[in-house]
Amino acid sequence: MPVSAKLQLSQFALDVAEGLSASPKKLSPRYFYDDLGAALFEAITLLPEYGLTRADERLISSRASQIGREVGAVDSVLELGSGSGKKTKRILEVLAQRYSPIVYRPIDVSSAALAACEQSMSGIAEVKPVCGDWIEGLASAVRFRRGDLPFLVLFLGSSIGNLDREAITGFLRQLRSSLHAGDLFLLGADLVKDVETMLAAYDDPTGVTAAFNLNILGRMNRELGANFDLSSFAHEARWNSNERRVEMHLRSGRDQSVSIGAIEATFLFRAGETIWTESSHKFSEPELNSFAWSGGFLPVHTWVDPQWPFAEALWRAA
Ligand code: TRP
Repeated sequence: MPVSAKLQLSQFALDVAEGLSASPKKLSPRYFYDDLGAALFEAITLLPEYGLTRADERLISSRASQIGREVGAVDSVLELGSGSGKKTKRILEVLAQRYSPIVYRPIDVSSAALAACEQSMSGIAEVKPVCGDWIEGLASAVRFRRGDLPFLVLFLGSSIGNLDREAITGFLRQLRSSLHAGDLFLLGADLVKDVETMLAAYDDPTGVTAAFNLNILGRMNRELGANFDLSSFAHEARWNSNERRVEMHLRSGRDQSVSIGAIEATFLFRAGETIWTESSHKFSEPELNSFAWSGGFLPVHTWVDPQWPFAEALWRAA
């Protein structure tokens, strides 16, 4: 029976069937984050080699008042992805000092993440969670515009780097089409740095990143009745200098076949063949500015962390 005829198949099963039939084989990074994957990612953010999250937090906490001054009075703060707490809290705090009460609308597909976020921000802002994906959620959140003050939209943590450059332009144009001229956008983005540093961030010697990447195979075993032998796949991080991105792969150590019960299919892996699981694009400051212009924004200010090149870019919708 063709896979599409089985209506009870989960989106996960369908995406796996499609990705492992493609050449090269690939899996969507959204499936990294089951409970174990989310815990392993939390551990990644604590790795000495993964400077990205600390740089983002350092920048926001040291520049919060400046960001607050540039932003001024806002109608409300919208966030793509529900903030993990610390960073967003700092921004809401400085905005609330001048113009309270602040309305905060986190947008996320995970209702658990939204509930946690609502709890942690409740003392600082009036939290109005929006459950949905970024663009859809934003389109519904902007309907609650109260007056003439601008919105501030947050997109922190360099999640933008997980989109291809072509997709970034499309994403920014869609974002812009939901906004009014004068609305503000604060974007976190990891910058190009020396190759050794970038690769170490995605291939740490303790093996946490490898465990995080391999967990996607474990998840298929648990949820889709697959029989991946995790010890016969190896985590690999590569720098692609043409595309300016770190690519994450899982490399098969031998010729092998893997069957996946949920889709009643078997996939062959050659020794050395890889499954491409994620790309993390790295940017330059001028490139971020040109993204702003191509998306219909004007760059207002960019703050860069001196210890770990990472940028917070503030743009205004043109
Ligand atoms: N979005 C994160 C990033 O690009 C995810 C991530 C960190 C990741 N380490 C990884 C994804 C290793 C795959 C493998 O920085």
